[in-house]
Amino acid sequence: MSGWYDCIGPFLRLLDPEAAHRMGIRALAAGLVPQPERYDDACLRISLWGLDFPNPIGLSAGFDKNAEVFTPMLAQGFGFVEVGSVTPRPQLGNAKPRIFRLSEDEAVINRLGFNNEGMHKVAERLSQGRLGIVGANLGKNKESTDAIADYVAVAETLAPFADYVVVNVSSPNTPGLRALQGKEPLKALLGPVREVMNRVASQSQPLLLNIAPDLTEEDKADIAAVALELNLDGLIATNTTIERPDTLKSKRRNEMGGLSGRPLFSPSTEVLRDMYRLTEGKIPLIGVGGVASGWDAYAKIRAGASLVQLYSFLVYQGPGLVNQINQELVKLLFKDGFASVTEAIGSDHRS
Ligand SMILES: Cc1cc2nc3c(=O)[nH]c(=O)nc-3n(C[C@H](O)[C@H](O)[C@H](O)COP(=O)(O)O)c2cc1C
Repeated sequence: MSGWYDCIGPFLRLLDPEAAHRMGIRALAAGLVPQPERYDDACLRISLWGLDFPNPIGLSAGFDKNAEVFTPMLAQGFGFVEVGSVTPRPQLGNAKPRIFRLSEDEAVINRLGFNNEGMHKVAERLSQGRLGIVGANLGKNKESTDAIADYVAVAETLAPFADYVVVNVSSPNTPGLRALQGKEPLKALLGPVREVMNRVASQSQPLLLNIAPDLTEEDKADIAAVALELNLDGLIATNTTIERPDTLKSKRRNEMGGLSGRPLFSPSTEVLRDMYRLTEGKIPLIGVGGVASGWDAYAKIRAGASLVQLYSFLVYQGPGLVNQINQELVKLLFKDGFASVTEAIGSDHRS
């Protein structure tokens, strides 16, 4: 953990979580957050989809919903940043309060409901240039009756300014959204999104799908089959969970919304492991959910992740966490005799 966050973190955690987040975004955007020296060891580099990631640790969707701070977050040491979720039209999201810290459980529950400034504002910010790898995560407006048209519109607007595009059908906070993870709805959605991306972008960017942790065996098999059939470039496993493990201690545990952080680590890693097995390691996976240390990131990589993302533990440990994870990861790779992250991907499946 970086020293300045040791001082400021406890004060931020006294504030309402959304107010603290807004304050953090303002401070980052104003250049007020100290920039550490990046930790990019050669063994952490990974090439994927024609992109050269300086390290495999990314900032997952939801932190920078409106593409306000992707540059300062890259400067904190992240190998890539995903902005969004972005919808066609701006929307306010659900009533506040809608983010809850579960400190005893090192977890967060959110029911934001895709609050964002809309695709045109985000496109304008992304078009001003990117000093690293930036992905765009797409959502649909709550009131929209044509989900496909929404995803196509956001893909058309953002694909020219993003290094990769994610179709997010796994947020628990937009009614009906997760039903789009079924076999036929997925095919009906991903085909047109791919078509529009081929049309608008100079070279076709990678198209990824972000999946929920709360899937049946049949759901997972269907998603793997669709991903292979449509030559999807990647899967992100996983979004937040609607499950509430019995182990949760915080009084906020029954708030509605998606649970993230420590209690999500095991279930999301198991879904990741299943998806690697079901896709026979043919589709690059991004592992996300409960990552707090180099060991956690390494476990995701061994289970099948080519890249790893995190969000919730930034709340508890601050942005210095990313360099700490990368340093620990180098040691763990070395200890097990891997010369690079790439060699370790999916290694659990080979032992
Ligand atoms: C406050 C908050 C907002 C989020 N918003 C989004 C979002 O807009 N789109 C999305 O795909 N995921 C969103 N997520 C999910 C994260 O990207 C991530 O998948 C999840 O939190 C699990 O990772 P973590 O345990 O490291 O937080 C959000 C998570 C949190 C905590």
